[in-house]
Amino acid sequence: MARLLIVHHTPSPATQAMLESVLEGAGTDEIEGVEVVSRAALGATPVDLLAADAVILGTPANIGYMSGALKHFFDTVYYPCLSDTVGLPYALYVHGNSDTTGAVRAVESIATGMGWRRHRPPVTVTGEVTRRQREACWELGAVTALAAAERAQGT
Ligand SMILES: Cc1cc2nc3c(=O)[nH]c(=O)nc-3n(C[C@H](O)[C@H](O)[C@H](O)COP(=O)(O)O)c2cc1C
Repeated sequence: MARLLIVHHTPSPATQAMLESVLEGAGTDEIEGVEVVSRAALGATPVDLLAADAVILGTPANIGYMSGALKHFFDTVYYPCLSDTVGLPYALYVHGNSDTTGAVRAVESIATGMGWRRHRPPVTVTGEVTRRQREACWELGAVTALAAAERAQGT
């Protein structure tokens, strides 16, 4: 069984809407053999990450950066997981009210430092989450579940 880990900080209805769509896509019946594990960023551990075949990160933009909660996750896992997660496929979604650029850059910088593989451009939303953006989140969840299955099979 492959495992997809979703590590998110979800402090509001807008971020909750994005998370729910990601979870729906990740859990689609069209992809078999993938267990989806969702963890609040403040509770996710190195053990969660080491067991994952792919990871989705979700955060609001806060003061031009990722949330403190997601930064805490990276601070927690960086050295314990550094050598064992090289090549891990990851995807990212970010919600902001004006500009998500700094948050995306911050996450991508750390993920690159860990040797992870971005297999999909991030989904970014400013303001209200539209139906089309929910669909983009659904797709992000589904394709990353597929990436987890492929990595578990060694393809
Ligand atoms: C302390 C703080 C800093 C924030 N900084 C940014 C920011 O730099 N860029 C941005 O687009 N939104 C920023 N926001 C807005 C949050 O990203 C937004 O509240 C979050 O995505 C949830 O969206 P919602 O409040 O519309 O539900 C900030 C919010 C807070 C509380």
